Amino acid sequence: MRYGYFNDESREYVITRPDTPLPWINYLGSEAYFGIISNTAGGYSFYKDARLRRLTRYRLNNVPLDSGGRYIYLRDDDAPSNRSDPNFWSPTWQPSRIPLDEYECRHGLGYTTIRSRRKDIEAQIRYFVPLGESLEIWELTITNHRDQSINLSAFLAIEFCLWDALDDATNFQRNLSLAEVEVDDGVIYHKTEYRERRNHFAYLACSEEVAGFDTQREAFLGAYRGWESPAAVEAGQLSNSMASGWQPIGAQHIKIHLDAGQQKEIIFILGYHENSQDEKFDPPESQRLNKRTVKPVIARYVQVEEVERAFQALRTYWDELLDLLQVSTPDAHTNRLVNLWNVYQVMVTFNLSRSASYFESGIGRGIGFRDSNQDLLGFLHLIPERARERILDLAATQLPSGGAYHQYQPLTKRGNDDIGSNFNDDPLWLVLSTSAYIKETDDWSILDEAVPYDNKPGTEEPLFDHLERSIGYTLDRLGPHRLPLIGRADWNDCLNLNCFSDTPGQSFQTTTNKDGNVAESVFIAGMFILAANEMADIARRRQLNEQAEAFSRAAQEMEEALWSAGWDGDWFRRAYDDFGNPIGSKQCEEGKIFIEPQGMCIMAGLGLENGRAMQALDSVAERLATPHGILLHQPAYSRYYLHLGEISSYPAGYKENAGVFCHTNPWIMIAEARVGRGNNAFDYYLRINPSVREEISDVHKCEPYVYAQMIAGHDTPMHGEAKNSWLTGTAAWNYVAITQWILGIRPTYDGLAIEPVIPTEWEGFKAVRRFRGTRYTIHVERHSPGNEIRLEVNGMPIDGSIIPTPPTGTEEVDVIVKLG
Ligand code: BGC
Ligand code: NOJ
Repeated sequence: MRYGYFNDESREYVITRPDTPLPWINYLGSEAYFGIISNTAGGYSFYKDARLRRLTRYRLNNVPLDSGGRYIYLRDDDAPSNRSDPNFWSPTWQPSRIPLDEYECRHGLGYTTIRSRRKDIEAQIRYFVPLGESLEIWELTITNHRDQSINLSAFLAIEFCLWDALDDATNFQRNLSLAEVEVDDGVIYHKTEYRERRNHFAYLACSEEVAGFDTQREAFLGAYRGWESPAAVEAGQLSNSMASGWQPIGAQHIKIHLDAGQQKEIIFILGYHENSQDEKFDPPESQRLNKRTVKPVIARYVQVEEVERAFQALRTYWDELLDLLQVSTPDAHTNRLVNLWNVYQVMVTFNLSRSASYFESGIGRGIGFRDSNQDLLGFLHLIPERARERILDLAATQLPSGGAYHQYQPLTKRGNDDIGSNFNDDPLWLVLSTSAYIKETDDWSILDEAVPYDNKPGTEEPLFDHLERSIGYTLDRLGPHRLPLIGRADWNDCLNLNCFSDTPGQSFQTTTNKDGNVAESVFIAGMFILAANEMADIARRRQLNEQAEAFSRAAQEMEEALWSAGWDGDWFRRAYDDFGNPIGSKQCEEGKIFIEPQGMCIMAGLGLENGRAMQALDSVAERLATPHGILLHQPAYSRYYLHLGEISSYPAGYKENAGVFCHTNPWIMIAEARVGRGNNAFDYYLRINPSVREEISDVHKCEPYVYAQMIAGHDTPMHGEAKNSWLTGTAAWNYVAITQWILGIRPTYDGLAIEPVIPTEWEGFKAVRRFRGTRYTIHVERHSPGNEIRLEVNGMPIDGSIIPTPPTGTEEVDVIVKLG
């Protein structure tokens, strides 16, 4: 069952009924000011940091589902008001949920438009954040389709958050006595805590003259009432209430007269603004907000033409980004994801890491070290300058030991002490993102950038040295089998082999009751081989031959350890526990085989020559693959194991306990491509592709235009149901798997490689890729079923699979790839 459709032409997903199985959301904003918006206008906004600079309130886990948002109410002032047939409604369906005659929500790139019609009054609201601005626009267009004129009221309402979202939701003894606002010229300014250490405020402005306002929540809603039928909307009048403590809101009332057939546009602006410390007040000795700096911004965006220009600029921005790679394959789902939605999701994960979604509260997690390094893999080619900055920010949270803070807060860019470090895979991800960055951009200078450790001035060293310390960190921590010690966890946050927690509520992420000198990770071993070989390559290209040798030798030794202790006979083992027993082995009763080491070890090139890669992948197909994707492990853990930690805390089949953890599926796609089995790789690709799953939206439940972190495994009664959509490394990795390994268009240090491993039945495909300033038009033509390739570059046959770097300034290169 579907709840909408893809409009590939307009680059939108169109939702045709408001009651989707879960709120289907979109993101507004691209750099500093962000918002989440659902298909019924639910959601919230923040500046840079969803925890520390929250502009509006939202209560996750609330009922009715998805209440709290960017709401507008329309009221037919000519019609009588009564409870059974109210004369007001919400054009976005929520929060009033009064039936609409027509409804449509279009989620596009950085904007959402909701259009509806009730009793011949049509309303459309377009929400977006202009590029480079710290504000959002709500553009309301109302059309009177009746054959008489009408007097309408439009009410807009949002609930302000008192900045720190955690404090706002918990510390009521203090925060119910804090709120302060100013209202000036119809503009509502929310300035809680501005009197003391803050120099920022939020504001709500409108292009029309307002007939009234409210800033105190209960004055607007009425005591004990909710957003679905505010007393003030029912009455048709606001009371100009001034918030003083309690719950500050922004509500505005606009009166509209429309003749038959007439249309009117109204612009609302919700914004965030900072004043410099010495210009906070106006006059300076007063306590009144200095509004001089923000007024020009407001004056600009209350103009329809300016708003339209800003909207077109946003469209162009995205068109240019998408233009960096466009493909035309025989499969519509692939085209849709590669050309649009997957790229878009990669951008969102780059911007927000795992901080703010309908499954991430915006309070719990900042920028993840391992997460962001992986998100970069899909993002690098889009805006390399921002990728570069992120790599350096991440590196600055590395510790002198080579370890890394697991997370940092985007506002401060400082490591998060609550979570700390010791996730032993973390530092290696920095090597992988940096090498991918250089392959894309050829910008070797990044390695010479001076970057501090733990953000401490005076500790700066070149990025290259940071990467060396990443490698050293693993080598300094080898266990009894010469495999890397796991620390708190590796990529699988829930395999907590040193935790041994028997206390309810204790954090699995930060509790360590064991010395940590025994439990080892085969996954990190595979990852180390990949990273150390990258370092060897990098060092060789910088003429650091001795170091290159040392990296190669370390990779070689790790490989030996891996074959002697990490191979189980038919697949790679997962780890060794604190007692020195294998995990992910035939010897285990549960958790006999795990997906991660099969993917990671084969990506690192293990088993390609001795047939074991193929053997491991056959075991994956036999034991882990389901029609809804590949499970994390099998058999699922049926009870809690003290020595395994959080993984066994989930009921069987959910999340890390044998769910389809989508992030890892593309590793297997890449591995299948590496062993040359394009049919398998692509088959796995389709199983979790959200567009393919659109037709089972009632089962899948999450948005059909983005990947979800997890699809419930076959040990649950909900097999096939997705959770944690949007913010997941699945986005970047699927993009890498399909574009670089299946379609095979892969940046290397020496140029763009083209090595497709596509399904045998495909006759070929076409792609246009911008790479280091040149536009490559690539035609792949299948001649027979194999993966052998012959390249013709601008009509000339060349040896190998890498297109030689054209002379600087070359704009176009034509490539023909003969496959088979
Ligand atoms: C989740 C993981 C997550 C971790 C850290 C666990 O409960 O299952 O997916 O990475 O928490 O927040
Ligand atoms: C989600 C986390 O964000 C990611 O870092 C981790 O690797 C996976 N969960 C698996 O546990």
